[in-house]
Amino acid sequence: MEVLRIEGLTKVFGSGRLEVRALEDINLSVAAGDLVALLGPSGSGKTTLLLCTSLILEPTLGKIVFDGETIHQQNGWAGIDIRRIRREKMGFIFQSHNLIPFLTARQNVLFPLSLVDKKGEAAEARVMELLEYMEITERADYLPALLSGGEQQRVAIARALANNPRLILADEPTASLDTVRGKKVMELLKKIAKENQSAVIVVTHDVRMIEGFDYVYYLKDGHLNHEH
Ligand SMILES: Nc1ncnc2c1ncn2[C@@H]1O[C@H](COP(=O)(O)OP(=O)(O)OP(=O)(O)O)[C@@H](O)[C@H]1O
Ligand SMILES: [Mg+2]
Repeated sequence: MEVLRIEGLTKVFGSGRLEVRALEDINLSVAAGDLVALLGPSGSGKTTLLLCTSLILEPTLGKIVFDGETIHQQNGWAGIDIRRIRREKMGFIFQSHNLIPFLTARQNVLFPLSLVDKKGEAAEARVMELLEYMEITERADYLPALLSGGEQQRVAIARALANNPRLILADEPTASLDTVRGKKVMELLKKIAKENQSAVIVVTHDVRMIEGFDYVYYLKDGHLNHEH
């Protein structure tokens, strides 16, 4: 089942002499359970594409259909509550984990649930289930600063999964990890795609990390190509 479809997406920053055409006529379709890698050199448009897909940046032109709803029409938002869609149906994992420093691992994972009014015992149980899934229950009551980089990233993934999102977007999730821990994070993302049937899009510089991906796309100067 198709989760995301992007048609003719173009993103231009600035104008005149300062114009940057960051994305040029991007077409992309991602189905439930797909693990997709987005590769490309620095400045090729990877983060811009991820931010447009996250509905954080508005495309200059182009259509975005997500979970059966048209979110962006050719040249404007379709009038849907974008923030609600992000909260309820998307999960985000960043290069550095972005955990809230004064909340414990458990509280960090609880946070996105509280944003959609999930509270009490059911929410607590969901948090413990996620921490177990990420094999990090023994660190549940630690603050992020007391966790290793790999542990922090596993908590961040648990947090991204909290609302059982249709789509998970990760920008360089292994950049701050060594190869072994980076591989482990990629394996977890693969497991999540298959077991939860979430679509997962991962931006990475690191070609060593793309083993086992269903699709690999390559961005160059704002143009998207199939790698294989
Ligand atoms: N807010 C902005 N205003 C102007 N230009 C921008 C803006 N954001 C990105 N760009 C430009 O768009 C192009 C694509 O940038 P983007 O950050 O998407 O690249 P990237 O592939 O993520 O690079 P990296 O691997 O270094 O993270 C670059 O030329 C960049 O300078
Ligand atoms: Mg980037």
